[in-house]
Amino acid sequence: MPAYAKENEVLYHTNLSREMLRGARYALLPGDPGRVWAIAGEFENRQPLAVHREYTSCLCYCIDLPIVVCSTGMGGPSVAICLEELARLGITHFIRIGTTGSIQEKIALGDVIINNAAVRLDGTSSHYAPEIFPAVADFELVSRLVASAERMMIPHHVGISVSSDTFWPGQERYDSFTGYVLPKFRGSLDMWRQLGALNCEMETSTLFVVAQALGLSAASICGVVVARNRSEQPAGKEVYDLSQKRIYDVLKNLFLKLVGGEQHV
Ligand code: URA
Repeated sequence: MPAYAKENEVLYHTNLSREMLRGARYALLPGDPGRVWAIAGEFENRQPLAVHREYTSCLCYCIDLPIVVCSTGMGGPSVAICLEELARLGITHFIRIGTTGSIQEKIALGDVIINNAAVRLDGTSSHYAPEIFPAVADFELVSRLVASAERMMIPHHVGISVSSDTFWPGQERYDSFTGYVLPKFRGSLDMWRQLGALNCEMETSTLFVVAQALGLSAASICGVVVARNRSEQPAGKEVYDLSQKRIYDVLKNLFLKLVGGEQHV
């Protein structure tokens, strides 16, 4: 029997209660607390909810559908905490909105990546399922994201992410303090590329495995801010803004379709 929060119970990390979420079932999950207010502003009637540690949250609406926007912070542990608490508050569908580094030639800066699965280079997900268990997105949510990206004519790619607990060694970056990368990660980027993975980031595998373990639905959509086959330098604000705008267009169309007020370009 799921342990939903009690009446007016405020959960420890997110500082949220069921009453504050107004029956919302959908959550949008950026990593960055600083993006929450802007994301909620893409919808209607945004209201701030709570600010605690890495968890900044707002409520907003698509017509009459309540949507929670809550930051997860970076990396698996804080994603898992966010999911555990939002699940107890009645959220059933989670969509990560992230940034990512692409590793395939065909992907351009500013493109959008919809991950349907992830390589589990994180530690947190192994607390929920053995390492041989796959990290897979919810098929229906992914299909909705893809259909919406197609309707809005957003350049997008669908495939596997490599989700690493570390930004530097786990993503085979040598531009760190020491430049040292463990032998087990040297050459890993080429291996993932050869195997057809699309991108590297730090949260998706945890999101997918924890959601599956809790019986919930999750998907992930990220904007490409580094093209690792060309440069290690994240692109500037223009690329970031472009990719985020594309993601917002996909999500707004998805929710409009969900509530029956479809929008085409
Ligand atoms: N986030 C990551 O974890 N890696 C990147 O390359 C870009 C964003």
